[in-house]
Amino acid sequence: MRSSRALAVPLRRLAKGIRPVLVLLTAATLAGCPELDWGTGKSEVQAQKGAQLIRDYGCGSCHRIPGITGADGLVGPSLELIGRRAYLGGVVPNQPETMVRWLMDPQGVDPRTAMPNLGLAEDEARAISAYLDTLK
Ligand code: HEC
Repeated sequence: MRSSRALAVPLRRLAKGIRPVLVLLTAATLAGCPELDWGTGKSEVQAQKGAQLIRDYGCGSCHRIPGITGADGLVGPSLELIGRRAYLGGVVPNQPETMVRWLMDPQGVDPRTAMPNLGLAEDEARAISAYLDTLK
């Protein structure tokens, strides 16, 4: 009896000491690895910024864009699965660099395109491109 109670006290102390460690470990597990992957985290932030710019510039008045509320325009093509599209405007291969060029200067890519030049800065075009790349 006596000895088991003597053991219980240090054990309880030990449990108390371990608790914050367990909480931290659980939090880290729940948060998942992306927290530790700076590359992914950065592109996620970029994509979120891009989604906001898409709203600000009103791209949705001409395009259907998944994930953007009210983006249901039919003037241009739907941007659903644009991340998997082979060509942009049917003229250049769909790659991050060509997407940025397209967004900043559509007529520079295809002089006959009806997509307007919205005067995007390069960092804005890159953020929007990051968002569009998530549509796969
Ligand atoms: C006034 C209407 C209009 C607005 C506003 C507009 N677009 Fe477009 N967009 C078009 C049209 C029309 C096309 C088709 C061009 C073509 O195929 O030559 C197009 C094509 C595109 C394409 C290529 C799609 C494909 O399937 O090849 C992308 C990507 C795109 N637009 C993104 C955007 C983004 C992002 C914005 C906002 C910054 C935007 N557009 C604003 C009309 C618009």
